[in-house]
Amino acid sequence: MSLPVVAVVGATGAVGVEFLSCLEQRKFPMKELRLLASARSKGKKMTFKGTEITVEELTESSFQGVDIALFSAGGSISKKFCPIAAKAGAVAVDNSSAFRMDPTVPLVIPEINPEAVKLHKGIIANPNCSTIIAITPLWPIHRVNRIKRLIASTYQAASGAGAAAMQELIDSTHAYLHNQPFEPKIIPHPYAFNLFSHTSKIDAATGYNEEEIKMVKETRKIFGDNDIRISATCVRVPVLRAHSEALTVECERAITPDEVRALLKNAPGVKIVEDIEKNYFPMPKDASGQGDILCGRIRTDSSDPTGHSFCMFVAGDQLLKGAALNAVQIAELLVK
Ligand code: A2P
Repeated sequence: MSLPVVAVVGATGAVGVEFLSCLEQRKFPMKELRLLASARSKGKKMTFKGTEITVEELTESSFQGVDIALFSAGGSISKKFCPIAAKAGAVAVDNSSAFRMDPTVPLVIPEINPEAVKLHKGIIANPNCSTIIAITPLWPIHRVNRIKRLIASTYQAASGAGAAAMQELIDSTHAYLHNQPFEPKIIPHPYAFNLFSHTSKIDAATGYNEEEIKMVKETRKIFGDNDIRISATCVRVPVLRAHSEALTVECERAITPDEVRALLKNAPGVKIVEDIEKNYFPMPKDASGQGDILCGRIRTDSSDPTGHSFCMFVAGDQLLKGAALNAVQIAELLVK
C-alpha cells in the first residue's frame, strides 16, 4: 500500500482521541488524516502533529479515497458504515463488537494472530478490551503449554463505557465528596465509591452477561482453539481508564510460577510488575497511559493439587491496548 489516507470514525470519543495519539506517537505513515463524528461535532477542531484538523460529519460518502478507516463510534454505526467503507475500497478496522464473530472477519491481536489480517475482505475486528487485556499475556503460555481452562474476574474502568461515563465517574465522585445529590445519566447505578456487575444484557439461560460471553467466544476465535473452557465475571469499578483482571489458568501440563515468569519476561506487549517485599503489583494507575499489559501476583493455584494451574493479576489501559493501540497495530500490519 502506498502512503494511505486514514479516516477516524468517532474521532471525538474516548477511543477516538487515543487513535490520534497512537497514530502520532507511533509515527504511522500516512498521506492524510480525516476525522469523522456525528453532526454534533461538525466543524470542531482537533490537533494532530501540531496541526488543526476539522471534524467532518460521518456520511455515506465519507470514505471516497480512504484507504484505512479506524472505527470507534458504537456498534450500530459500525454495522452500517464499515461495509460502506469497505465498498469504497477502504479497510475498516472496527473497535465495536458488530463483526467480531463473523467467520469472514479476522479478529486480531497482533501479538497473537497477525497472519489473520491477510484474510480480510474489507473489515478487520478489534477484540473486546477485557479479552485483549486477559489473553495478550496468556498467549506465550498457551503456545508452549496449552491452556485448558481460564477463570477471569474483571475490574473494568469507566472508559469502556465511553467518554461520557468517564465524566460521570468524575462528576458523581465530586458530588459525593461535597454531599450533593447526583442523578446518574449514563451509568444506571451510583458510580462513586461503588462497583457493579457489567451492565450488558444477561442471557437468561446461562446467567452470563454479553461482556462475559464475548470473552469466551473471542478468546476461542483468536487462539484458534474451540475447546478452551472459560468462565468470566465482569464488574465495572470506579477507575477511569485501565482494566484489571484476576486470572486463574489451568494448563495441560504442570507449570510453575517461575516458568510463567520466564515465558512472559520477553513477550511482546507484556511487562512483569512484581515486588513481593513492597507488595507492589499491577495497578490501573500504572497501566494508564502506556501500552503494555502489566502482569503480577504470579503464583500456583492452591486449589489445584496437580500443579497444572496458576493465578495472575493483570492491568492494561482499556483505551490503548484494549482499543486504540491494538487497532493501530492492526493498521500497521496493513501498511507493512
Ligand atoms: P460525537 O462526539 O459527535 O457525538 P464515546 O465512545 O466516547 O462515547 O464516543 C463515541 C464517538 O462516536 C464520538 O466520537 C461520537 O461523536 C461518535 N458518534 C456517536 N454517534 C454518531 C453518529 N451518529 N455518527 C457519527 N459518529 C457518531
